[in-house]
Amino acid sequence: MKDLQVLIVGAGIGGLQTALGLAADGHTVTNLESVKEFPEVGAGIRVPPNSTRLSLLWGVDLQSVLKETSLGNRFVNWHGTHLLDCPFDDAHERYGAPYYFIHRADLINALVTAVKAHPLITLRMNTAVISYDLDLPCPAVSISSGEHLTADLIICADGIKSSARSALTSGKTSLRI
Ligand SMILES: Cc1cc2nc3c(=O)[nH]c(=O)nc-3n(C[C@H](O)[C@H](O)[C@H](O)COP(=O)(O)OP(=O)(O)OC[C@H]3O[C@@H](n4cnc5c(N)ncnc54)[C@H](O)[C@@H]3O)c2cc1C
Ligand SMILES: *[C@@H]1O[C@H](CO)[C@@H](O)[C@H](O)[C@H]1NC(C)=O
Repeated sequence: MKDLQVLIVGAGIGGLQTALGLAADGHTVTNLESVKEFPEVGAGIRVPPNSTRLSLLWGVDLQSVLKETSLGNRFVNWHGTHLLDCPFDDAHERYGAPYYFIHRADLINALVTAVKAHPLITLRMNTAVISYDLDLPCPAVSISSGEHLTADLIICADGIKSSARSALTSGKTSLRI
């Protein structure tokens, strides 16, 4: 496949990881994020081996992030009675990568650092997508500054309250959000 110009809307964990994955394959990525800076929201997040394996491959520095290694899952019922243990002590050798607990803000920080260091990725903060034009062969977005950006591929990683989803499922080819 030829190297694509890709726009990714949303720089959450999904958008940032997608940017790193595509750039690792030689595609040029512009990641558009509406917030000015990332808020320190969230708590501990589980980062299982399939995720750490790729992050490490893409040069995300998980070594210097404050973290715990997950030892397993313990299931208890609402009385606190112990039901089942699922140990993860062999996770690393079984799945080829460690199983971590990381604070969400620290994970985002590590991803953003890797994204900013990558020559094929441009991260544009304070850049809200306000409309989509999904017409082929030249899909495009408009952003809050009034600019019109086109790409070979547009990936909407705009979260659980995605406004792009309704455009895609409605069959409309353009959407103002
Ligand atoms: C309490 C809780 C615990 C969780 N625990 C875990 C866990 O242990 N392990 C795990 O893997 N997952 C966990 N999850 C789920 C995980 O947090 C989410 O699946 C993940 O953060 C979703 O990432 P995302 O990039 O899809 O969306 P988001 O993080 O929501 O990112 C979307 C981004 O898009 C931006 N955006 C939206 N619209 C536009 C627009 N028009 N223009 C530009 N930018 C836009 C937003 O500002 C946002 O930054 C948990 C979730 C919750 C709520
Ligand atoms: C993890 O990755 C392996 C190998 O790529 C795959 O077979 C497996 O289904 C993945 N596990 C999960 C939970 O996604």
